[in-house]
Amino acid sequence: MKLEDQKMNNKIINFIKKKNKSKIISLTAYSKNIASIIDRHCDLILVGDSLGTVLYNFSSTKKVTLDMMIEHSRSVRMGVKKSLMVVDMPHNTYRNPKEALGNAKKIIAKTKCDAIKLEGGKKVVQIIKNLIKNKIPVMGHLGVLPQSATNFKFKGKKLTERKKLLKDAKLLEEVGVFSIVLECVESSLAKEITKMINIPTIGIGASVHCDGQVLVTDDLIGLNPMKVRFVKKFTNITKQINTAIIKFKNEVKNKKFPKKINSY
Ligand code: KIV
Repeated sequence: MKLEDQKMNNKIINFIKKKNKSKIISLTAYSKNIASIIDRHCDLILVGDSLGTVLYNFSSTKKVTLDMMIEHSRSVRMGVKKSLMVVDMPHNTYRNPKEALGNAKKIIAKTKCDAIKLEGGKKVVQIIKNLIKNKIPVMGHLGVLPQSATNFKFKGKKLTERKKLLKDAKLLEEVGVFSIVLECVESSLAKEITKMINIPTIGIGASVHCDGQVLVTDDLIGLNPMKVRFVKKFTNITKQINTAIIKFKNEVKNKKFPKKINSY
């Protein structure tokens, strides 16, 4: 269903209107506390299934369950007041249109999120079509697809890969997704896709040419020790936590904490 024929909430309409006007800011959150800090700076907050690898130390996102996504999203919901809140549908929860619709409805009913995101192009088009027909706003995800990837090499080196990605982006736009995440897509291809479609592209490792950028918050604040080319650590929160804990430890050892004012 075309975008203009969908009855969308104002947050999504305003989000789409940002294309070609101002860069879109997006981050992940897995809990209320982080969500409430980042909300005023973000246009979109994603409860990403990256929580499987970032929080649970899974070797991939494949083991993330629907219940995990729902519980984390319920927490995030409490911290999100203004941003668009999108929840990832985890692996094996959208294998056919019926399964996808049931699970997407469950996510929306239990978390009150604004939209869901799922990975893939042509393969998932019928699934997305059915979700949108049933009034579920969908964000697409192309490029490296962590739920099915066998390696994490960037996409768009080979001509066949480029053609496929361009086709997939067009297809997703035609079925009515309101935005597409481009993960690890070669710069000139990300630029071409962004120019070709009328909905915002949100890049992660996909160059400055995308309409917006998304990062995993734990990565950008330096809470996740993993090093990847597309991540920039904007601060080192681990260092700050260590400093605070050392102060606490010293004060406890020296009987400076708790003081009278902290006691009953
Ligand atoms: O799961 C996630 O956090 C994501 C982002 C990396 C886009 O899909």
